Amino acid sequence: MKSFGKSNLKDLYINFFVSKDHKQIPSAPLVPENDPSVLFNTAGMQPLIPYLMGQAHPYGKRLCNYQKCLRTTDLDEVGDTTHHTFFEMLGNWSLGDYFKDDSIAWSFEFLTKVLEIPVEKLAVTVYTGSENIPFDQESYDKWLSLGIPKERIAKTEKDNFWIAGETGPCGPDTEIFYFRSDEEIPLVFDPEDNRWVEIWNNVFMQYYKDETGKVTDLPKKNVDTGMGVERTTAILEGLNDNYTSSIWKDVIDKISEIAHLPYEGNEKSMRIIADHMRTAVFLSADYAGIKPSNTDQGYILRRLIRRAIRHAKNLNIDINSDWEEQIARIIIRKYEEYYQELKDNEQVVYEVLKNEKIKFNRTLEKGLKEFEKVLKNKNSIDDITAFHLYDTFGFPIELTMELAKEKNVSVDLEGFKKRFKEHQELSRTASSGKFKGGLAGNGVIETKYHTATHLLNAALKVIVSRDVHQKGSNITSERMRFDFSCDHKLTDEELRKTEDLVNEWIKEGLDVTVEEMNKKDALNSGAECMFIEKYPDIVTVYSIGNVSKELCGGPHVENTKELGHFKIIKEESSSAGVRRIKAVLQDD
Ligand code: ALA
Repeated sequence: MKSFGKSNLKDLYINFFVSKDHKQIPSAPLVPENDPSVLFNTAGMQPLIPYLMGQAHPYGKRLCNYQKCLRTTDLDEVGDTTHHTFFEMLGNWSLGDYFKDDSIAWSFEFLTKVLEIPVEKLAVTVYTGSENIPFDQESYDKWLSLGIPKERIAKTEKDNFWIAGETGPCGPDTEIFYFRSDEEIPLVFDPEDNRWVEIWNNVFMQYYKDETGKVTDLPKKNVDTGMGVERTTAILEGLNDNYTSSIWKDVIDKISEIAHLPYEGNEKSMRIIADHMRTAVFLSADYAGIKPSNTDQGYILRRLIRRAIRHAKNLNIDINSDWEEQIARIIIRKYEEYYQELKDNEQVVYEVLKNEKIKFNRTLEKGLKEFEKVLKNKNSIDDITAFHLYDTFGFPIELTMELAKEKNVSVDLEGFKKRFKEHQELSRTASSGKFKGGLAGNGVIETKYHTATHLLNAALKVIVSRDVHQKGSNITSERMRFDFSCDHKLTDEELRKTEDLVNEWIKEGLDVTVEEMNKKDALNSGAECMFIEKYPDIVTVYSIGNVSKELCGGPHVENTKELGHFKIIKEESSSAGVRRIKAVLQDD
């Protein structure tokens, strides 16, 4: 089989699909823009939903990329051989272009010709069919024709229909498995036999499932595939422990060097530190500017850093040394070639990690003592203690639970939550609903609000000052929020005129158009943009009539008259030199 040498799976994959006329699209930020329903991107297809639903993608119909993903559902599992919070997903997409035939043929070619995997080590599953959707004969026949024997093609239902969350684009899939064992390969493939591990999932996305469970045809038949970089690399390197693969080796070596301890015997803590530090690096480097906090993405960042610190302490690492920066530096050097934000925000990352460390370190020792003290008299952690550990010692509840689990004692989680609610407004993340991912958002209403932010941005420039620039925005299905640079509180007159101008543009029925441009040309043409470094060399520019032009990934409505009536409901200060407007769209 292929030994990677200097190249790696990511490069081989992208080169291969580019050679098949795919355009490489940049990895979207970890924190989704314009989709408040999820905290993080959890799959390569997620930023592409509008395009899978039928909107034209400016890069064309054949796309590929490596996408940064973060899943928090398995956060507590990290520490074993296979779980990660952050991971990279390789994907190739057809937006109404090729379908099953080419998709399967190219997957087979990549695996057997580029990665040089022997056919005997491969097996696949195909969709067996259900009441409404037929057996996937086409995929079955294609695999046979390529040389996968019928004994190695399993038909299943449940695991061969893919959807992210409850609603959205979906379809039957065919999954490709690799035999990870030196034992004799059984003649008949059994997907439940865990020596066979899934390495690639090709979804044939031709349906849309709505809230009522109804499945309808999408305007076009798409292909969406996903291959996890960490897992596949480990498998191809013949390893059962992902953390011993070429992806992690230098990070683990560094931790081992700092701790003066071998990996063997200290695996769990070292894996947790490696995983959580990598995620914390990517999260704090994201252009979204996430900082540790007690809500949403910031809370996840805090939990990751604090859990890593606790495990560093387990290994007797001197917490006051610059250990966290040494590990972060290895990670940044390793990935900066692929992710510009790591270069741009290297110092920010070190500061975030250090500040959070200092904050937590002040109380960690005392908190651990308090924890021990309580257990001398009781054999459980009641709600008051759990809240005290949180409030006074900065212990995320999950940390208290992990410590309790190690000591085999229980925690009154419900009581903690109640107390938490009483003392503060319960952060939305703590209710865990958002941890699960799922893909609402990016719907019709959010799209309208997104276009409205462009109009508001343009109107503020006309009415208030040319120097107004967007500093941030947040959209839910109920309202939009828009932050912009401005040195004064807007007067009533400015607000009224801004609102009127936006409504005038809506009434005019301006067309929204998109074009692909070289980044330099886009800027020279006067297009507005928030973080120039964030964009690839070829960018998409959305124009609204001739009133607005912005670098943006979309999606947007086609014509402003779809927006209804625009109404500003609040204007307030956001931070020094930044004002915030909240606005709604109402039916005419
Ligand atoms: N979207 C598919 C997955 O995540 C490819 O498995």
